[in-house]
Amino acid sequence: MAVTAPLRWRCCDATACRAAGSAALRQRLEAEVGADRVKPVGCLRLCGQGPLAAADHADGHTELVGGVAGERRLDPAHPFFALQRPVVLERCGLVDPDCLDDALAQGAYATLERCRQLPPQAVIEEVVRSGLRGRGGAGYPTGRKWQQVAAASGAHKVVVCNADEGDPGAFMDRSVMEGDPHRLLEGMAIAAQAVSAAEAFIYVRAEYPLAIERLHRAIAAATDRGLLAGLPIQLRIGAGAYVCGEETALLHSIEGGRGTPRPRPPYPAVSGLWGLPTLINNVETFAAVPAILRQGGDWYEAMGTASSKGTKVFALSGAITHTGLIEVEMGTSLRTIVETMGGGVPAASAAWILRNVQPWPTSPAPSTMPAVAGWRAQDCPWHRTVAGAPQRRAAAAHLLSGRAAGSPF
Ligand SMILES: Cc1cc2nc3c(=O)[nH]c(=O)nc-3n(C[C@H](O)[C@H](O)[C@H](O)COP(=O)(O)O)c2cc1C
Ligand code: FES
Repeated sequence: MAVTAPLRWRCCDATACRAAGSAALRQRLEAEVGADRVKPVGCLRLCGQGPLAAADHADGHTELVGGVAGERRLDPAHPFFALQRPVVLERCGLVDPDCLDDALAQGAYATLERCRQLPPQAVIEEVVRSGLRGRGGAGYPTGRKWQQVAAASGAHKVVVCNADEGDPGAFMDRSVMEGDPHRLLEGMAIAAQAVSAAEAFIYVRAEYPLAIERLHRAIAAATDRGLLAGLPIQLRIGAGAYVCGEETALLHSIEGGRGTPRPRPPYPAVSGLWGLPTLINNVETFAAVPAILRQGGDWYEAMGTASSKGTKVFALSGAITHTGLIEVEMGTSLRTIVETMGGGVPAASAAWILRNVQPWPTSPAPSTMPAVAGWRAQDCPWHRTVAGAPQRRAAAAHLLSGRAAGSPF
């Protein structure tokens, strides 16, 4: 390996790199520089070129090496990296996901500790001020949902994390859980404190074995050290039915029933798990919370657009040159994401992806939309509106996977 004497190596130990042979790369590095200078970390972002390792040099610069033999180098100055704005992913790729001490050294649970000194209403107001909206699809204002659960009558309340992530090609939530599980736990514990919930569940799909393993270890480690403010957090493993990502179906599934949605109201905030007031949020939503409470709602609110605040994690997969994980400010155009960061769409696949990146709800249906309009649509900022959640989910899934129903690519 031609890289000169880095201080340490961070070796990606997330699912895609594992599948590409990260164990062999890590063994090779450990043999070369010693195990104490090689640290396993979560996703380093450019998953399609793994197994990846990052070499951190004494002068502060980092080099990325890919391939079991370390033969390929990737430039961290590339827009794929340079245009990212890590908030949810701020520790992913830096921290050893299985080492609580490493997470603590990088700030984990410090915000929860501060929030415990505040009145619950002050915590909720900060989330309201941030403008954070749910990342699970519907874009419902998170602070407002927390207010509703806090105001619901009933002494026993529950927090549930939706980690079902059923959208084809999506791996944002999995990457957070694999790369920085303590961040999710901290966000959930802050939420529980804010709405006065006594217990919490994470509903995660069985197809995510590494995330499940790491969550188990992280919950045990944080509980043993008394870091979760007494909140019991349990995992519930879903069998992979897409519909179980819908919140009422998910709750039925946790209760042991069939995963079928039910009409709302009543919303889970009023009557959710076993009829108890339930706060249900997506992984990315909870994972944004520690940064918001640490840096303030106004800090988060200053990022993004008038109606969509903060950042968004995207999984770029399918018909795109740079497959991987990005986090960008809300309002970043689809052209920037697909072309500048993602390196564009291979020519043979272009027509398919273009038909699936239009804005909604006013644009024509994908099947009637000419490809050229799709290109124009790529200049539209990515944002969430109040209407058309199923359309948004579908469009996002297609963009992220680069595939349309019936597409040969
Ligand atoms: C068919 C269907 C599937 C869904 N799948 C997911 C999912 O996989 N993950 C998720 O977080 N939300 C999913 N949702 C949205 C949830 O019902 C719910 O709105 C979300 O968990 C609320 O969290 P949030 O406010 O943080 O977004 C789905 C909704 C529908 C209608
Ligand atoms: S899984 Fe290794 S870079 Fe994403």
